[in-house]
Amino acid sequence: MFDHRTFRFAACRRLATRLAILLLAAAGTAQAQQRNRPLTTANASGWLQTRTPSGRIDSDNPFFQPLGSNGRSCNSCHRQAQGWTITPKELRQRFDRTNGMDPVFSPVDGAVSPLADVSSVEARRSAYAMLLDRGLVRIGMPMPDNAQFRLTAVDDPYGYASARELSLFRRPLPAANLIWLTAVMWDGRETFTPFNPPMDAGIDLQNLRTSLAAQARHAIVGHEQASSAPGGDIIERIVEFELHLVAAQIDDNAAGRLNEDDAMGGANILAQQRFWIGINDTLGNDPSGDAFDAKTMRLFDSWDDPGAPFRRDRRGRARAAIARGEKLFNSMPIDIRGVRGLNDLTGQRVIRGSCSSCHNAPNIGNHSVALPVDIGIAAASRRTPDLPLYTLTNIATGKSVQTTDPGLAMLTGKWADIGKFKGPILRGLAARAPYFHNGSAASLRDVVDFYDHRFGIHMSTRQKRDLVTFLSAL
Ligand code: HEC
Ligand code: HEC
Repeated sequence: MFDHRTFRFAACRRLATRLAILLLAAAGTAQAQQRNRPLTTANASGWLQTRTPSGRIDSDNPFFQPLGSNGRSCNSCHRQAQGWTITPKELRQRFDRTNGMDPVFSPVDGAVSPLADVSSVEARRSAYAMLLDRGLVRIGMPMPDNAQFRLTAVDDPYGYASARELSLFRRPLPAANLIWLTAVMWDGRETFTPFNPPMDAGIDLQNLRTSLAAQARHAIVGHEQASSAPGGDIIERIVEFELHLVAAQIDDNAAGRLNEDDAMGGANILAQQRFWIGINDTLGNDPSGDAFDAKTMRLFDSWDDPGAPFRRDRRGRARAAIARGEKLFNSMPIDIRGVRGLNDLTGQRVIRGSCSSCHNAPNIGNHSVALPVDIGIAAASRRTPDLPLYTLTNIATGKSVQTTDPGLAMLTGKWADIGKFKGPILRGLAARAPYFHNGSAASLRDVVDFYDHRFGIHMSTRQKRDLVTFLSAL
């Protein structure tokens, strides 16, 4: 006899089983996707995407293992969610979680001075203030031999710096998007020999690998305080890992997916970016013979269509703002004056350019040849009380200059190189405030305000907003 209730029960059970199978399958796929999907991490303005060749982050790589004596690994200062560097916000969380005992908080270069008192939580809070407030690491460097200048005064609030070792507080650069580097480190000091065009596939890969291997060895002996650098295979594995990390913003809170409707945001598209040393060279020295094109950023060209149907809603308006910001980056006129390494090099007192004159590598944003320049970030006028200030006196002329960081001049000993730094890659910015070598711009708005003031651009509030919206989407 047909039992209605049994049937219903059986049907329910079948349905439940099917649902369970579906759910399990979904979970399985989700898990597989978790393993395989391009990895995304949240930040204040959306999501950062990291791409690796295998589709997952190989956490067994020695990049993540302590290789020295203080418990630090590369990952102590180069973290995925922070755009492969570190941020004050995350460092403060780490400090609170561990009472300041996480290995990133090591006196050697995490503290304001290697001699700082770190015996209590409160002492550690002030010793590690530069990390906690600005995400800065102390790079200790001796005055160069045979320099054209002498160190004639030191004003170090922490009473440590001297000619034997200047304290230079610098932001860790991202350990991602390295394949497009034209100089390694803010001052280029780990660049083995200048990367020269033209090379295999346009990248001097062997030179880059040699540079990054030396950098890793120095990081292990320096930051990680190993007594000696580990064997070549460990270094090779680290370099192989970091060399293939690609990171870029993929999702914007207001504009949505940054690769929709023919836009080209995100790490997967970035990984295919055409590049060679000297590409789109500002001074006309592109080895391909092509002339410089100021339109260096073309990620959001397709969003620059006023008639596009997607532009009518809130999301569409956000996309339009990003496209406007990109245009400003490429074409807003800037009268570049007083930039050492540029105006003096070209013999031009004023160069009519734009953001893309210096950030000229297409869709990447660094300079496509090593071009250290002084835009004034380390100038005495921008010194804050937490930074040491150094007075350097020219031996030949007797002239003096004050700076918080001599930059390239610490390597070359040249007066003309004081304050010169490389222009860094401008991708994955939203995840990694603060900006500039000394973290002096707390936000992208501060970066834009700096340029507006430094070059007397007189941007409108809306232009500034659009430019920030664009930079946040990189
Ligand atoms: C204590 C923090 C800290 C640790 C640990 C650390 N780094 Fe760094 N890293 C920095 C800082 C600071 C800079 C920038 C210094 C400068 O330019 O003077 C940097 C720069 C770099 C750069 C240069 C990127 C560029 O754009 O030029 C690479 C690559 C890098 N680190 C990789 C590594 C690797 C690999 C390890 C582990 C072996 C490591 N780092 C460990 C703080 C750290
Ligand atoms: C004269 C060359 C030059 C021009 C013009 C220029 N930049 Fe820069 N940019 C640099 C250099 C050099 C640095 C690194 C300076 C430092 O930290 O000491 C930099 C750094 C930055 C950074 C910080 C990146 C980071 O990782 O901290 C951003 C963002 C940036 N520039 C955006 C812009 C925008 C937007 C414009 C146009 C309004 C612009 N730049 C114009 C040379 C230039």
